[in-house]
Amino acid sequence: MCGIIGYVGNKNAAEEVREGLFRLEYRGYDSAGAAIMDENGIISVVKKQGKVANLAPYLDDISGRIGIGHTRWATHGKPSDVNAHPHSSGKITVVHNGIIENYAELKSKLEACGERFFSQTDSEVAAKLINRNFKGDLLCALAETVKVLKGSYALMAICEGVSAIAVAKYRSSVILGYGDDEYFCASDEPALAGKCSSISVLEDGDLAYITPDGIEIYDDGMQQVIRDKRANTAAAQSLDLCGYPRYMLKELYETPAAVERTVKEFNAAAPKLREALRGINRIILLGCGTAYHAGLVGKRYFEAFARIPAECENAGEFRYKNPVVCEGAAVFAVSQSGETADTVEAARLARTLGAKVIAVTNAPNSALTRLADVVAPVAAGTEICVAATKSYTAQIACLYLCALTFAGEPLTCERAVALTKMPALCEKTLASVNTYSIANMCAGASGVYFLGRDVDYAVALEGSLKLKEVSYVPGEGYPAGELKHGTLALIDGKTVCVALVFDKNLAKKCENAVEQVLSRGGRAVVITNVVGVCASLKDRVRIISLPDCDKFLSPLISAVAVQKLAYETAAVLGRDPDKPRNLAKSVTVE
Ligand code: M6R
Repeated sequence: MCGIIGYVGNKNAAEEVREGLFRLEYRGYDSAGAAIMDENGIISVVKKQGKVANLAPYLDDISGRIGIGHTRWATHGKPSDVNAHPHSSGKITVVHNGIIENYAELKSKLEACGERFFSQTDSEVAAKLINRNFKGDLLCALAETVKVLKGSYALMAICEGVSAIAVAKYRSSVILGYGDDEYFCASDEPALAGKCSSISVLEDGDLAYITPDGIEIYDDGMQQVIRDKRANTAAAQSLDLCGYPRYMLKELYETPAAVERTVKEFNAAAPKLREALRGINRIILLGCGTAYHAGLVGKRYFEAFARIPAECENAGEFRYKNPVVCEGAAVFAVSQSGETADTVEAARLARTLGAKVIAVTNAPNSALTRLADVVAPVAAGTEICVAATKSYTAQIACLYLCALTFAGEPLTCERAVALTKMPALCEKTLASVNTYSIANMCAGASGVYFLGRDVDYAVALEGSLKLKEVSYVPGEGYPAGELKHGTLALIDGKTVCVALVFDKNLAKKCENAVEQVLSRGGRAVVITNVVGVCASLKDRVRIISLPDCDKFLSPLISAVAVQKLAYETAAVLGRDPDKPRNLAKSVTVE
C-alpha cells in the first residue's frame, strides 16, 4: 500500500530518493519521508504529512550516497509527521510496506523491556527489534527480526556507519535494480523506469544486502541465492503526462493502444492457455474493485461463448468463505497490479485446492504472475492514475479472448476479428463523446445511479465506482430491472440516472426504467448505440450516442464514455482524479 525506494551509488541519494518517491506516489500519498546517510555514516531523516511535494524541498539540503524513502497509505495510525516513515531506533532507520499483524503483541513485549514508542504505526516495532538484534551485522539483525514478524513486509533498513541497505521481503513486492556502479531497491517497476539496465524480483522470504560493491541475495535460511536478472523494460517516458493535465485523461486516451496491444500479446500466450484449459469444467473469476467488474463482464463471455456456467466473485469474499473448489476448476484472477493482497491470496488458496490459476494481469513480474499456472497478458502499459481506465478495457479484451479460446474458437473467428476493430471504435468514442454538460449535472447531483442489464449492468457498476472514486459524488450501479424494487425511493429532482443500453433486445425494457425515473422527477442520461432508443423521451433525456458494435464488445466503448464522464465530473468539482482522497493504487494489505 505504500511505496519504498532505496539507492546506493555515486549520485546524490537524496535526489534519487526524491525522484523515486514522486514515481511511487500513486501507491500512497498520506505522507512521505526519507533517510539519507552522508559520507561520515550519519543518517538524516526528514518526513512530512501530505504528498511528496511537501517533503521535496526538505531534501534540498541533504546529501549522501545511500538513501531510503517511503510514501505512505496509512493503515496503523492517522496520516501525520510522526507516523510518516522512516522510523528510527538507536542507529537503525527503517521504511516498511505491508502490515505487521502481531505488532501489538511485539510492542507490549518491547514496552515491558523499557522501549518507548513515538508513533502509532506497526512499523516502528521493526525498527526497535532490528536495533535490539544489531550486534555489528545489519543483515543478520534484520534476518533475526523478520523471524518474529507475522504479516507482510517489504522492509529496508540502514544503520549509522554501515554503507549498506538491508532488505527483507514477504508478501509485499520488492524489486532490485542494477545500474552502472549504482543499485536500487523499490516497490515496483515504474520507480526504476529508465534508471537501471536490469532488475531482479525478490521471492517471499528473501533478504538482500546492497552495498556500493553490488547486491547479495539470501533465502530465508540465509543461503546465498541467485535471482534471475531481466532487462528493465519500463520506459521513463510512460511516466510523462505528455501534455495532458492528468494521468487519468492521458491513460483514458491510451485505451485504443492498450486494447490493440493486448490482442497482439494474447496471440503469443494463447497456445499455453489453450493447453492449461484442457479438461476444465468450471470457471471462476476473481478480482477486486474495477478488476472484479471486468470479471463480471468476463463471466458473461464464458457463459455466452462456451455455454459453461461461470462464477465471478470478489476476491476478498472468496478467500474467507471456505470456498468449494476442486480439480477441474480454472480460476481467472484479474488484477492490474498483480499485487492486490486479496486477489493474490484468493488465487493462492484456489491453487492449493486444486484449481488451475490464470493470472489476467498488467504486471508481468508481479506476485500473481509468479504464482499462476499461466498468464493471460493485459498489455495496457503503465497505469499511474489510481482510478483504473485503460487497464479495465484491456482486461475485458483479454477475458473476451480467454473465453473464445476456452470455447475452442480460433483467433481468426468472427468474434475475434470483431475485437480487432474495437481500438478504432474506442478512438471514435473518445473523439466524439462530449460529457461536459452531463458532468456539470452529475457534479451538482445528490446521487448518480447507473443502470443497465446483462453486460451493461457490469459496466454500470464500474461507471458508478469510477464516478464515486474520482468525484466523491455518491451513487450506485443497479440492474435496470431492480430499480422498482427499492432504489426508486431515492429518485428526486436532485438525482441523475445514467442508463447504459447496448443490447437491442433489452432496449425497450431499459426505456421503461428511464420512464420510471422521469415520472418521479429524476433526471436521466442514456448512453447507447441502439438506434431510436428513448426517441419518444428525447426532450427529457440526454442521449450520448456511441458507435455500433456487437453487444458483447460494447463494454469497450461504454466504459470509455463512463470513464470520461467521471473524469469531467471530477474536473468540474476541482478534484484530483489521479490521487483521490484515502485511496492508493495497489492495495497490498487486507
Ligand atoms: O491492481 P488491481 O487491479 O488488483 O486493483 C484492484 C482494485 O484495487 C482497483 O481496481 C481499484 O478498484 C481502482 N482504484 C478502481 O479504479
